Amino acid sequence: MKDTIIPQTIGQQMGRRSWAEPWKIKMVEPIDMIDHSQRQKALEEAGYNTFLLRSEDVYIDLLTDSGTSAMSDRQWAGMMLGDEAYAGSRNFYHLEEAVQKYYGYKYLVPTHQGRGAEHLLSQATIKPGQYIPGNMYFTTTRLHQELAGGKFVDVIIDEAHDPADMHPFKGNVDLDKLQALIDRVGSENIAYLSLAGTVNMAGGQPVSMENLRAVRQLCQRYGIRLFLDATRMVENAFFIQEREEGYQNKSIAEILKEFCAHTDGAWMSAKKDNLVNIGGWLAVNDENLFEELRNMVIIYEGLHTYGGLAGRDMEAIAIGIVESVQDDHVRSRVGQVRYLGDLLTSWGIPIVQPVGGHAIFADARRFYTHLPQSQFPAQVLAAELYLDSGIRSMERGVVSAGRDPETGDHRYPRLELTRLTIPRRVYTQAHMDVVAESVKAVYDQAPKARGLKMVFEPKYLRFFQAKFEPV
Ligand SMILES: Cc1ncc(COP(=O)(O)O)c(C=O)c1O
Repeated sequence: MKDTIIPQTIGQQMGRRSWAEPWKIKMVEPIDMIDHSQRQKALEEAGYNTFLLRSEDVYIDLLTDSGTSAMSDRQWAGMMLGDEAYAGSRNFYHLEEAVQKYYGYKYLVPTHQGRGAEHLLSQATIKPGQYIPGNMYFTTTRLHQELAGGKFVDVIIDEAHDPADMHPFKGNVDLDKLQALIDRVGSENIAYLSLAGTVNMAGGQPVSMENLRAVRQLCQRYGIRLFLDATRMVENAFFIQEREEGYQNKSIAEILKEFCAHTDGAWMSAKKDNLVNIGGWLAVNDENLFEELRNMVIIYEGLHTYGGLAGRDMEAIAIGIVESVQDDHVRSRVGQVRYLGDLLTSWGIPIVQPVGGHAIFADARRFYTHLPQSQFPAQVLAAELYLDSGIRSMERGVVSAGRDPETGDHRYPRLELTRLTIPRRVYTQAHMDVVAESVKAVYDQAPKARGLKMVFEPKYLRFFQAKFEPV
């Protein structure tokens, strides 16, 4: 009798007992789906750009995992303990303690969100004409580096640019590329190494501890500082625990702290890992740099003990940091992303492999083999998904890559991806099933899709506000 059971639950299918999210839901936000003709109208009005849709016209919102997390009851309770003093708010000191305890840096500067921190760090550390090597660009990070007069150079391993390559640490830095840059421009012309864990634009891919140690050594030999984009570093720690020898018995919190200890500081969009709707921070170990940042933050963000945040926001981040490093939380967070990824993979749908920490990245080139990259296949896929089911995703291809500041030409990245980003603690497995079926329906219809042309292009970070029309 036992042998005839057809595996139905995920646990049964995997040959183990099922496990569930380490929380229960106590407040819900109703959502509903508008019909196809309304979606068509909304998409046209939005210029085929999912950033320009009204959220009430969206059914399942996978635009981003940024600021879209569900906060816990403890975080909401913390919001009520906001100390809204202009200076020296007790919530600032809670946040400082949490960053020191879990990330290990000495000095903290709060900012309104990640790009506020990127701005300060870029202005304080980059001299015009200097180079900033990094493990693949990120849109706002590179723009702030360029606005400070720097030039970003991609030194990620080649495997990261291949959506099908199964390298377990596709976020790793290629030491030969880094060495070649140092040889070519001289270490004095390198502002710092910009390391992201995980790498968003590569598909949420992690950096290994071994690679970090080697990168650190090389940087130290030449006196080059190493700053970390810690936005999704907790998810990176999960992959190290899962995949890297010697880390299976270490906690996420231990791995996070060990990783950060090999860096000189970090900037953070707290809207991701730290489980809040707004906030960011910058943390460093060098006292002189801290003094400079602490002075600069007053000009652009606010006093150094609030940096553009309300006291209650800082309290929510402090509590969010503690929740974010719990092993069961991270396992369920990455597990949900992987559940969706495994479904799509089993149906033969082309997505970036291995599935990363925060999102599924559909390989739009392989959806639309009949469309040239100049017709924005990843933008087309985001539009088609919305039309099919009201699911909102985001372009991560030629539109996001922008134009080369020197030549003014489109930058054509090898990765032409559409990102379906999973907010933390927000959607259920049933939502993931609905998403998977919609992606499949769009894939099945792919040969019929038409390309897009850009009819409006803003100067900076064009993917947020550009408009398109069908070719
Ligand atoms: C890897 C990475 N770095 C930096 C940022 C910028 O952070 P924010 O959106 O909070 O300004 C983001 C968010 O989009 C990100 O994903």
